[in-house]
Parts: sequence; C-alpha cells; structure tokens
Amino acid sequence: MENLKEIQATAADKLIAVDSEIKLAEFKAFVFGKSGLVTELMKTLKSLPNDQKPQAGKEINDLRVAISTMIENKEKELHRMAIDRAINEEGIDLSIDKPLHRIGSLHPLNRIRDKLVNYFVGNGYIVYDSPEIESDYYNFQALNIPPDHPARDMQDTFFIEDGILLRSQTSSGQIRHMEHHKPPLKMICPGRVYRSDDDSTHSPVFHQLEGLVIDKNVTLCDLKGTLEGFAKFIFGDQTTIRFRPSYFPFTEPSVEVDVSCFNCHGRGCRVCKNTGWIEILGAGMVNRKVLENCNIDPDEYHGFAFGMGLDRITMILHAINDIKLLWENDVRFLHMFD
Ligand code: PHE
Repeated sequence: MENLKEIQATAADKLIAVDSEIKLAEFKAFVFGKSGLVTELMKTLKSLPNDQKPQAGKEINDLRVAISTMIENKEKELHRMAIDRAINEEGIDLSIDKPLHRIGSLHPLNRIRDKLVNYFVGNGYIVYDSPEIESDYYNFQALNIPPDHPARDMQDTFFIEDGILLRSQTSSGQIRHMEHHKPPLKMICPGRVYRSDDDSTHSPVFHQLEGLVIDKNVTLCDLKGTLEGFAKFIFGDQTTIRFRPSYFPFTEPSVEVDVSCFNCHGRGCRVCKNTGWIEILGAGMVNRKVLENCNIDPDEYHGFAFGMGLDRITMILHAINDIKLLWENDVRFLHMFD
C-alpha cells in the first residue's frame, strides 16, 4: 500500500513538469510502457499468495485509473495551451478596414443625366418623357423634314415598319409637348435615341437631352445665356461658349455650340484636339413651320430648342475614348466612378 501511494505521488510530480505532447508520450511510457512503473507492479501480482491477489489487484487497478485520469487532464490542458499559442502566434488582425461588400453606384451616364436634369429643373424646366418607338410624323415631318428631304440622311434611321421607327432624336418630344401644352413652355426631354452608327464614338443607341423654351419675346440672346449657364455648371465657371452657324430644318437660325476646353482653357490640348473648343450640341430658334405644325402662332410666340448628346458629354468629362465602355457594364470600369 505504502509503495503504491509513493508511486502515485511520484507520477503526479513528474506530470507537473510535462508541457508538451512529446513529454506526455514519454510519461505514458514511463508508467504504462513495457517496463513502466504500473506494468512492473502488475508483474509482481503473479508472485503474491493467492489470498492477497484480489486486494492487491484492486489497488493496482485503482492506481492505474488514477494515473490515467491525471493523463487525460494533462491532455486537455496541453490542448488548451496549443490553442492559446496558435491564437497568439497567428496574430489575427481584427482591424482590417476593407468593406466586405462593395456598394453599388450610379452609372457615369446616369450621373451626368441626373446632374443636368437637376440643373434645368432648378431653372424652371419640366421633364417630359416621350416614346422611343415613334412615328415618322413626330420624328421627321412635324419637325419640317418631309419625306425625301436630304436632312434625313443626317440621321441613319432604324425603321420598324413603314412610317414607324426608333426615334433618331429627342426633338420628337418637342412636337408632342407642344401638342399637349400651351405656351409659355420650358421643358427638357432626356432619353435614348437610335441611329445606325457604330464606331468608337458612335453607338446604335445613345442618349440625348432636348430642351425647349417657348414664350413671347424669346431671342437668340436668351438661348446663348441659357447655354452659357449650363456650360459653366457642367464644365466649370471659367467656361465660355461660341455659336457657329449650322443647319437644322426645325430651327432657323441654327447653330452648333462649342464650349471652351475645360482641360486647357483654350490653349489647345488632346481633349479639344488642339482647337481650344469642344463641340457639344446643336440648337437654334424654333422654326415658324414647326410652331405652326403644333398650332402655335409664330407671330405671337418664339422659342429656342437645343439637343445635346449625354454620352458625348460623359466621354469628354471623363476622358473615355470608347463609347462601348459605357455599355459593357465591366465592373472594373464602373468602380472607377464610385
Ligand atoms: N436633334 C438635333 C440632332 O440630333 C439636335 C438639335 C436639337 C438641334 C434641337 C437643334 C435644336 O442632331
């Protein structure tokens, strides 16, 4: 009995110093191995007188169970220590500052559209929505472009069937608006338009923003002031504009409008192709014939209209050289505008 107690105490002492899996394995061999402490004790059983065997066997077994329990506890302790060590050594960085999900953002084209719409609405214009599938009448004839007029060649149009087409310009919205509203009028009509065009700066579908103002005593000066305000708003305060004579059947006189280059302020650079000017839109005073077509008396009312390409303005502002980038929805491109 004494001997057994001593053995248990020795084992417990030795186990305290065990601090690794290897040392634990050595300890197991030391007690339960071929010539381990407990194994040796078992061997002595044989030599005991028969009447002492049951009692001695029980005591040795108790010792075996006691030491096994100590070993189990040590195993648990070592396991916990291993986890603690791993956590400390791996150094998990909880301060990572990347957002887990990217937040979507407005397409650059929609951003420009919204900015322009807000500008004009803030200046008293209403937003008018006009159909994309249109009749020849609204897209051409009412705009003073009769069948076989050479001006039709300026816009290579998609016809759906005879007399029905995909609108080639938002100017069709002018007619629809004037048919349904009495002057004075101030409206913009943003939307998709279609032409059979396809290269790096032209897409078969693109976006325009039409503007129309009809009132008594509206002059070309009002048009110039309006467009100057718009140009400064979108391209910066230093921007100036210039009118060049042009031709559209639905305006008379007609102008093409250039803005001074926002990049070089007129000195000449890549953006303006060294001219100092960037062409951005067509405009003019609404042709008498168009007013008449909409039952507005051209002797009482005058007005101006303008039409700009939203894709073109977006491309100029962001130095985008291929219009396809606006359509491909490549997130790497779109994230540049987050
Ligand atoms: N509709 C013309 C175009 O698409 C632009 C324009 C609009 C010109 C209004 C004058 C007045 O080219």
